[in-house]
Amino acid sequence: MDTKKALDFETVELDDRNDALVIIDQTLLPNEFTYLHLKTREEIWEAISELRVRGAPAIGIAAAYGMYLGLKSSAACDFNSFYKELKKIKEYLASSRPTAVNLFWALDRMEACARNNRSRSISEIKELLLKEAEEIKAEDIRVSKSIGEYGLSLLRPNDGLLTHCNAGQLATAKYGTATAPIYLGTERGYNFKVFADETRPLLQGARLTAFELNRAGVDVTLICDNMAATVMANGWVQAVLVGCDRVAANGDTANKIGTLGVAILAKNYGIPFYVCAPTSTIDMDCPTGKDIHIELRKPEEVTDKWYARPMAPKDVNVFNPAFDVTENKFITAIITEYGIARPPFQPSLVEIFSKKATGRMQFSNI
Ligand code: MRU
Repeated sequence: MDTKKALDFETVELDDRNDALVIIDQTLLPNEFTYLHLKTREEIWEAISELRVRGAPAIGIAAAYGMYLGLKSSAACDFNSFYKELKKIKEYLASSRPTAVNLFWALDRMEACARNNRSRSISEIKELLLKEAEEIKAEDIRVSKSIGEYGLSLLRPNDGLLTHCNAGQLATAKYGTATAPIYLGTERGYNFKVFADETRPLLQGARLTAFELNRAGVDVTLICDNMAATVMANGWVQAVLVGCDRVAANGDTANKIGTLGVAILAKNYGIPFYVCAPTSTIDMDCPTGKDIHIELRKPEEVTDKWYARPMAPKDVNVFNPAFDVTENKFITAIITEYGIARPPFQPSLVEIFSKKATGRMQFSNI
């Protein structure tokens, strides 16, 4: 099976010649595979906010390209006025979604790139911003591959795996985070059996994870969220792999709503619960999960979306948080591109960042 071929699509791409950010409109999947060419900052903001492009790493990459595109046409002649424009675009794009730290991390990186080169001409700074955005994307591919290697070292052939939401190729530049060990294992003949939670209310598991794993020839079985306990009780799951939107310094992890429930179930059945986390998703300035801002979304996503007619009484109260926080006590390990962090997570994550400071990933040949 050639997973590489099945993963040949680009989730986020720059068409520099036509001044456009090109994304797959993920709201239309799996029925339509449509590329959108986004030219204005408003279009990019809307695409992030409406989850046309989604998943923590992918929205970071989209925002970095968005900032570059927004500044490419800048007529500013001096650094101060250029920087003022940059700050305005940064603030605007940063307001598109609040939880995934990659969005802010990527925008901060772009800002630092401009600031560190303030003595250069504006056209040189624009070139450097383009390079920085391209590097953010290229780095994400290396990171996912490395997470794949570390993740695979924790799994055995024929394992049953459960994943929630979509932390796949569609959420990153390539390979995904939680799916990277799955794709790598598939290439190496591990013969995994994957259970994908459908992930109410926006169905990222059904529409996106089942779509991309199925396309890549992975043995994937779709289940409703409320079936996870049954497949675990049946002994069909040997490990849970999930992605994350923000990991706090103590290891508490925000991820798609429903992840906490899966983690509690995994603990009950003695199944290891692994969080796949690029260091760009780890926020050492955020002490605990209580400090993570959880996005609240529209009630219609619960009551109306996907149905021909509303499936709840008109005006019923709805609580629709996009994410929940899994306390560190439910997490077996956090798999990063620089190694595997284990409890107690605070010192273990500090060690991961000191490895990062040396600049070399162990799997640097990938
Ligand atoms: O609301 P979404 O679809 O952006 O939520 C995505 C998730 O929760 C993913 O698990 C997370 O961003 C990790 S993606 C590698």
